[in-house]
Amino acid sequence: MATRADVLLEVDALTVDLPGRTGGRVRVLEDVTFQVPRGRVVGIVGESGSGKTMLLRSLLDLLPDGARRSWDRVVLDGADITSELPGRRLPAAMVFQDPMTSFNPLVRIGGHLTEVAQRFQKVGRREATALAREALVAVRIPDPDRVLSRYPHELSGGMRQRAMIAMALLAQPELLLADEPTTALDATIQAQILALLRALQAERALTVLIVTHDLGVVAAVCDDVLVMKDGRIVETGPVDRVFAEPQHPYTKTLLAAAPAAPDEPEPQPSPEPRETPGEGNA
Ligand SMILES: Nc1ncnc2c1ncn2[C@@H]1O[C@H](COP(=O)(O)OP(=O)(O)OP(=O)(O)O)[C@@H](O)[C@H]1O
Ligand SMILES: [Mg+2]
Repeated sequence: MATRADVLLEVDALTVDLPGRTGGRVRVLEDVTFQVPRGRVVGIVGESGSGKTMLLRSLLDLLPDGARRSWDRVVLDGADITSELPGRRLPAAMVFQDPMTSFNPLVRIGGHLTEVAQRFQKVGRREATALAREALVAVRIPDPDRVLSRYPHELSGGMRQRAMIAMALLAQPELLLADEPTTALDATIQAQILALLRALQAERALTVLIVTHDLGVVAAVCDDVLVMKDGRIVETGPVDRVFAEPQHPYTKTLLAAAPAAPDEPEPQPSPEPRETPGEGNA
């Protein structure tokens, strides 16, 4: 177990319920307690409906209408901030699975990015544009000016996801939340985006929480893993330990069902993305 100073975020007994579709209320997270060690990449796995998305959304106050969230305690950087929530934002930003639904189709990439830069970094329009350009360079987009002037649908899927990550970086998060950020992409692009997230973690001392259904992704890019089932965390720990010696029967089932790990080297950060914006649907 990490010591206090190594822990960025600690959440005790998070419970969330939502209005049920047929009346009543549905508990989607139950007594969820976890620590996010600073500077690590943490994978969240578990079957569909187990509450992975709700867990990320509850950290950003992005729950559906009518949701009720409660927790015993939230500790950020060693400080108990429970009483300041929900008014206070956690220093977190989210990368969604499908950037097409997160970008306004009528607003150019530059418009999205400068808006976030202005709001979060309290700068004027001119400086925001410079910061937006820098963020696109940070996500290894080779021609940032061109991409700034593009509409979301004019970019390839991989470029759009890079732009979404750039937008998240402009909020200057310490904690980057990513909900299945590569599921919509083909395998090659997926590996590039994962390598990028890993590289950004190191360059910017980020802490990353990444939801995935792919245990291969966890093995390749995550340091730690949280295993969820039915709105609860059933197992957590360093990936090596959990994969070698799963303790919970559900984790054992998950690992047994996963295809054998491919005999491939881990994806490496690729400073020169091979794809080009606006071409194909990669
Ligand atoms: N808007 C909503 N209203 C009511 N229930 C919802 C709503 N959104 C999700 N749920 C329920 O909350 C539970 C947790 O959903 P969540 O989306 O967090 O699962 P998940 O682990 O992310 O699944 P997936 O792998 O399919 O994305 C599920 O039982 C789901 O049916
Ligand atoms: Mg989900």
